[in-house]
Amino acid sequence: MVDKPGYDVMADAYAELLPEAFSTPLERRVVDAFIGLLDDADATVCDIGCGTGHVAGYLRNGGIDVIGVDPSLAMLTHARNTYPDVSFIEDDAWASTVALDDCAGIIARFSVIHVDPEQVPVIFASWFRRLREGSHILVACQSSDDPGAHEFDHAVARAWRWHPDTLADALTSAGFTEVFRTVSRPSEGFHRFPEVHIAARRSVTQDNWDGFRS
Ligand SMILES: C[S@@+](CC[C@H](N)C(=O)[O-])C[C@H]1O[C@@H](n2cnc3c(N)ncnc32)[C@H](O)[C@@H]1O
Repeated sequence: MVDKPGYDVMADAYAELLPEAFSTPLERRVVDAFIGLLDDADATVCDIGCGTGHVAGYLRNGGIDVIGVDPSLAMLTHARNTYPDVSFIEDDAWASTVALDDCAGIIARFSVIHVDPEQVPVIFASWFRRLREGSHILVACQSSDDPGAHEFDHAVARAWRWHPDTLADALTSAGFTEVFRTVSRPSEGFHRFPEVHIAARRSVTQDNWDGFRS
């Protein structure tokens, strides 16, 4: 395993290199489509692995309350300085300190790539248990055309890219129902790899459907 500098070391460079929330118009439109799925316009969204906070800031500018979560204090310092009206918390992908049942959704863009793939389905299951019914999540990862999750040479931290079906399987096995996915192809100057976004719903349980029927 090659040592990686980590986000605390690279935060300033990261903020300078990626000052915008979105690298492509598609990324922004996918987030807009996710916002359109939220059942309560006043509800809170938890941005897991929020980094320098620019997507949290985008959501906040759109009138959505956001809790940004990230394990890197240096990334959070950028986030807090740039978006003082957003609440940022030091935590990891488990988001154990966040009351997810108060949230209408989770957005996790290019952050679960840094979690050991064996842990990712367990984390999704934890989100599923704690979110309320009808909430939505949006997960984005660098992608692979080969089934499975594959470690790649990320410049900052260990990371894995996911085949879209493998990521979808992890979400559905946790209980979520896929709503939509996009897969963008690599493009020179923007992305080395395909990128997948999957939106999924924490569906009404079978028990509740039975209740609706009776
Ligand atoms: C590529 S940045 C993405 C930032 C932001 N989500 C965005 O879309 O611009 C990855 C972020 O994931 C965070 N991260 C790393 N390991 C994590 C973990 N185990 N749980 C949650 N976030 C993690 C990093 O600190 C970093 O801020």
